[in-house]
Order: sequence, then structure tokens, then C-alpha cells
Amino acid sequence: MNILEMKHIGKKFSGVYANEKIDLSVAKGEIHALLGENGAGKTTLMNILFGIYSADEGEIFWKGKQVHFHSPKDAIAEGIGMVHQHFSLVNKMTVLDNVILGLEKQGFFLDRKSAKKSLEDLAERYGLQVDPDARISELSVGQQQRVEILKALYRNVELLILDEPTGVLTPKETEKFFSVLRKLKAEGYAVIIITHRMSEIMSISDRVTILRDGKKIKDLVTKDTNPTELSNYMIGRQLDYNFEVKETEKKEIALQLKDITVKKGHKKPVLDQINLEVYKGEILGIAGVDGNGQKELAEVIAGIRKISKGEICYMGEEIASWKIKERFEKGISYISDDRHRDGLVLDMNVEENLILRQYDKKPFLKNGIFQKKAIKENAEKAIEKYHIKTSGNQEGETPVKFMSGGNQQKVILAREITEHSKLIIANQPTRGLDIGATQFVRQVWMDQRNEGKSVILISADLEEIMQLSDRVAVMFGGKIVGVQKKEEIEMEQLGLLMGGITKEEMK
Ligand SMILES: Nc1ncnc2c1ncn2[C@@H]1O[C@H](COP(=O)(O)OP(=O)(O)O)[C@@H](O)[C@H]1O
Ligand SMILES: [Mg+2]
Repeated sequence: MNILEMKHIGKKFSGVYANEKIDLSVAKGEIHALLGENGAGKTTLMNILFGIYSADEGEIFWKGKQVHFHSPKDAIAEGIGMVHQHFSLVNKMTVLDNVILGLEKQGFFLDRKSAKKSLEDLAERYGLQVDPDARISELSVGQQQRVEILKALYRNVELLILDEPTGVLTPKETEKFFSVLRKLKAEGYAVIIITHRMSEIMSISDRVTILRDGKKIKDLVTKDTNPTELSNYMIGRQLDYNFEVKETEKKEIALQLKDITVKKGHKKPVLDQINLEVYKGEILGIAGVDGNGQKELAEVIAGIRKISKGEICYMGEEIASWKIKERFEKGISYISDDRHRDGLVLDMNVEENLILRQYDKKPFLKNGIFQKKAIKENAEKAIEKYHIKTSGNQEGETPVKFMSGGNQQKVILAREITEHSKLIIANQPTRGLDIGATQFVRQVWMDQRNEGKSVILISADLEEIMQLSDRVAVMFGGKIVGVQKKEEIEMEQLGLLMGGITKEEMK
């Protein structure tokens, strides 16, 4: 029996359907995947179920009874919980306080001690270990996610909605997270998981519903389908994986790192004597498991992080003392792996985010006055060039927080990559993006390279690295442990290097 039936759900924003006649059913003890490209309407559908939006059309049946939720409070009271893409925890408060927040009703005295005990029991039971007394601000994203799930479980939900939960996780964290989901399933919970990663759908879900352009395209039993079929339903077209790779010279050095070391106190250096050069007209892929110094390396080049030792030569000049702004103006672009921390100001709109690097310059600022027309035109150009999907008729005035990850990433690319760009450092630029957006972003790197510019592509996704790079460097433990031309690479060796096995040890 289905615990949830959504029938003919319809929802319009500014006259445009975000959801149109969508049906979705979920059974008890089922993990149901909701698949679709950015903008397909997944979050909207779940926000309707969770009482955040009310549907314009359609009906929702929960445990056989028709329901009308007017707020998440109503949904939670009936046993439906949701973990959003962007968490809603209070940073300054502890884990326990976040979990019990809002439960302390008038006239009720909440016993913190027993609350802590039940939280610890829950955590233990489902493998969601976190320290109840830790502050949210001290926790990693993965840990914060556990708190969000615990918060829902603590409220006795029976259906858990997870909106792109793995977008923020490393592959290893994802594995662990999936084992938690399997435990929940075994205990009879129903789970709706939004994702666009076929491999994840195949490994975790029982059934999958595919949305495209606000409509339900198909629902399938996972074991009867395969990634190719899912992908075809999702995008409704065949993807072209072949890039046009132009012959480039790759003779002149754009960037040369000599003996770069970053070390704090007596700790192990985060970057340890890095020697590396990047040529004009090449994509240098940096492979490696997350956390082996890739982020630090990117920051050193962008000017965000100081080096303890070494030299950074860019177009023949020593730039270690240059500020971030100066480096950007001289053509160094940086795409951070954390779109929300370093990339965008979420409360600002597209127009504003696009000029963050140059708001104090002509044509955007003249005689101390912002030039609205120039700012608007700049946004219009970017929206067109990068196919940025904004909402309804707000266009450049859409706050970026309302946009999908893929579209947010496109805003960053449009801002960072200018006609002056000569060297682009991109850290995990496609993480969390759907296939369509991923392909778009990859094409941007290839175009830059074909124009004779240099791209340093840091990615934990080996497929991406192999698809795009001219040469591949591997990082492990703050060191470059190998650099090879793509044609000469043996995948097995690459995997071993990434796992910390040295070339000597391989012999
Ligand atoms: N609050 C909103 N106001 C206006 N448009 C919205 C709002 N929320 C979503 N949309 C639009 O509805 C469509 C579906 O969005 P969404 O449900 O977020 O897609 P998904 O989660 O599949 O990426 C998009 O075109 C999006 O711009
Ligand atoms: Mg969404």
C-alpha cells in the first residue's frame, strides 16, 4: 500500500508551470528517487508536499487520507520531514538545541537530559554520530546534514524528503550516508531522495520518478532500468560527449610554481614543495581525493592564501606578493569549490553578483554613481551567453538563492571568465550539477583552452579529468606525486597514486 499519493499536482510561478499534472506515489519502506535536470520541478513538488507552497491544482493523500498542509509544521505533525538543499540550522547553537528547537511549547518543560539521551539513542541506532554539545558552526557539511536528519527523526517522521543530499558530500561520505538510508528503509521509513546521479539512483533506490520541464515523464522500478535509459528520459535527448579539441601549441609557460610550500606552525605542510608548470593552450587536470591540498593550491594561485616558501611565476612575473584583485585584473580567474561561501552572495540578485569583482569600475560606476543600464546590460549578455535560467520575468533581478546549483555556477563562470582571463583555476566546478549543466561547464573549459588560454581543472571526478585534460597531475598529502600526458596515463596507476602509493612502491 502506498503511504503517499500525489495526484495531478500543478503549480505555476508567474504564469509558468513549475509542476504540471504530476503524479507521485511512495510506499512504506521504499526509497524513491526523484530525478530531473535543474529546473525540472523537483524541489517545487517537494515543497508542496512539505507545506511550503500550496498547489494550484491536484490532491495529496497521506496514509489514505486527503491532506492540506498549510506549513511545514502541519506536514511534520503528520509525519513528513524534509531536509533542504541549504540547511536551516542555527549556527551559533549546539546540535541538541537545534534538534529540540521549537519543541518547547508553552506549559511544557523540556527535560534536556532526557532529550540528549533520546538524541544519542537515535544517532546510535542509525549510525548518525554527532556530538550533541558541538556547535553547528564547528561541524562539517556532512555532519550538519546528519543533524538535519536527526532533527526530522526526533519528530517521529515516517517519510523523509532529502533534496539533493549528496551534492555536498564526498564519495566516501555518500557511501556512509547511503548505509544510513538503508537502515531507515529496513525500519520501515519511506524516503524520497532527489538526485541527478545515475549511479546513486541505481545503488540506493527502489523506484524512480523522472521529471522534465515540470512534467512527470516516467516512473520506473530501479532494478528494471539502467543509467542510459534514465539519462535519456531525464534529458530527452542524446548528449554529445565529444568536444572539439583543437591543436594548440603548448610551448609558452603561463604559470610556473617553484617549491611552493604552505605550512602553519609545526603542523605537516598542507602544500609541500610543489613544482608545476601550466602551458598556454592546455588544460592541466589535477586529480586526487578531496582534501589532499587541492583547495590550498587553488587558493595560493588565486592569491587567497599566503605561501610560506617558493615562487609563483605568472606570465614571467613573480606574483607571490600580488593581491587577489591584482591577480584577477591581470587575468587569473578562480572558480571556488564552495559556491555559497566564496562564490556568490545569495541574497543579491544576478545583476549584482555578476559585477562583484568590478562594481567600483567603469562602466558600472561613474562619478560615484552606479550605472543601472550598464549593470543590466552586462547581466543580459551573461544570461544569454551562458544560458542562465532565471525565474519568470525577473531575469537579472532574480535573487541567486532562488536559482538551481547549475545556474548559480553559470553566474560565477560569467563573472570570473572575462575577456582578460588568461589562466582559470576551477576547483570541483561541476560537483552537484546535473548532466546538462555539467556538460555546459566542461565545454567552457574546452573553449578557453582552444582559444590558447590555460585551465587548471581540479576534480575528484576522474572521468571529467580524463575527458578534458591535456596533462594530469596527481595530488596526495600536499604533494604532486605524478604528472603525465593524458595519452600516457594508465588508469590503474592513476588510481594507485591517488591512493598514496608511490611510483617506487609500484615497481
Ligand atoms: N519561488 C519561486 N518563484 C518563482 N519561480 C520559482 C520558484 N521556485 C521555483 N521556481 C521555478 O520553477 C521551476 C522549477 O524549479 P525547481 O522546482 O527548483 O526545480 P529543480 O528542483 O528540479 O531544480 C524553475 O523554472 C524555477 O525557476
Ligand atoms: Mg531543486
